[in-house]
Amino acid sequence: MDVVSFARGIPAPECLPVEELADCAKAAIERDGKAVLSYGPGGGYGPLREWIAARHGVEPGRVVVTSGSLQGFVFLAEQLVQPGARVLVEAPTYDRPLKILGRLGAEIVGLPMDDDGLEPDALEQALASGPKPAFLYTIATFQNPSGRTLSEERRRRLVEIAREHELFVLEDDPYGLVRYEGDPLPTLFELEGGVNVTYASSFSKTVAPGVRVGYFVLPTPLAKQIEALAVSTYISPPFMTQATVHEFLRRGNFEPNLERIRGLLGARRDAMLDALEQQLPDGATWSRPEGGYFVWVDLPHDAPTVARAEAAGVTFVAGQDFFSDGGGAQSMRLAFSFVSPDEIAEGVARLAPLLVGASAPASAL
Ligand SMILES: Cc1ncc(COP(=O)(O)O)c(C=O)c1O
Repeated sequence: MDVVSFARGIPAPECLPVEELADCAKAAIERDGKAVLSYGPGGGYGPLREWIAARHGVEPGRVVVTSGSLQGFVFLAEQLVQPGARVLVEAPTYDRPLKILGRLGAEIVGLPMDDDGLEPDALEQALASGPKPAFLYTIATFQNPSGRTLSEERRRRLVEIAREHELFVLEDDPYGLVRYEGDPLPTLFELEGGVNVTYASSFSKTVAPGVRVGYFVLPTPLAKQIEALAVSTYISPPFMTQATVHEFLRRGNFEPNLERIRGLLGARRDAMLDALEQQLPDGATWSRPEGGYFVWVDLPHDAPTVARAEAAGVTFVAGQDFFSDGGGAQSMRLAFSFVSPDEIAEGVARLAPLLVGASAPASAL
């Protein structure tokens, strides 16, 4: 077996609805080719904006459909962050926003988490101890990288804090619908009503990442500003893929496809948790996500280097990549979304011996 990749946070190939999307792409051109194959409004393909707006109970003008949600994050950050501005993030958090914020000169403040997600007391302390942040970036559900989910009680508290401090919150929620067990929790956006909380999601995990269709639900003035940024960056979004996704939704393929994905990836989540339970040495702990792509492993000593793991035939992303200000040396992000259940069992069997009692710093191993 080749190197088993727990590094790739992408869907397994069988999750992708290839034939249905081919059919939808053809139908989208046949139905609305003159619009779909031309330039158009920066906020995205009208019928898709309307579908998203209806789903979230807002006016279509508040929805901006971007080329993947990460592109939307770049636009929003460019709009909100001046060099030196504080931005609050979870520690750990998704590594790409850390890089984007770093590039924009933000002062990134990491807030501690536990199994119930971001700690609200730490948020209050951060708000009391410095200038008003440009925004708080949170992945409240099945977080990348930890797999953790903010509890309902904390969601309510966070919303109260946001209201009290007029704190702008970006809730990034690409994984919320990819749930394998348990009841869905209300989003921060739903609890707060969409005044201080902006919501972002994506069809990358629910349809296919290659379509590059993500979206933001924003306050109207900010939606207009982001739309202007989109126009000045790429003139017009790729309507072809947005219309393809819309056709997929219009046909009623979304829910059945989600069920299929939940089945395929839920089996991988189970395989990962079983293998960790059976093979990881005493002292190792890990998250038990009810959905999403990732498990976060904490060790009582430094984690092995990725190079050492690769030499043993398995790879992961080092914990340090998900912190802006140090931390993570004893942690690893394991993605279970890409590899098969058999590969997961084999990958954990290769990884486990590297995690035994290595009390020396990783660099010395
Ligand atoms: C938390 C989070 N936000 C955003 C993205 C980017 O998604 P998109 O493909 O829509 O750009 C990812 C992708 O892995 C992610 O994990």
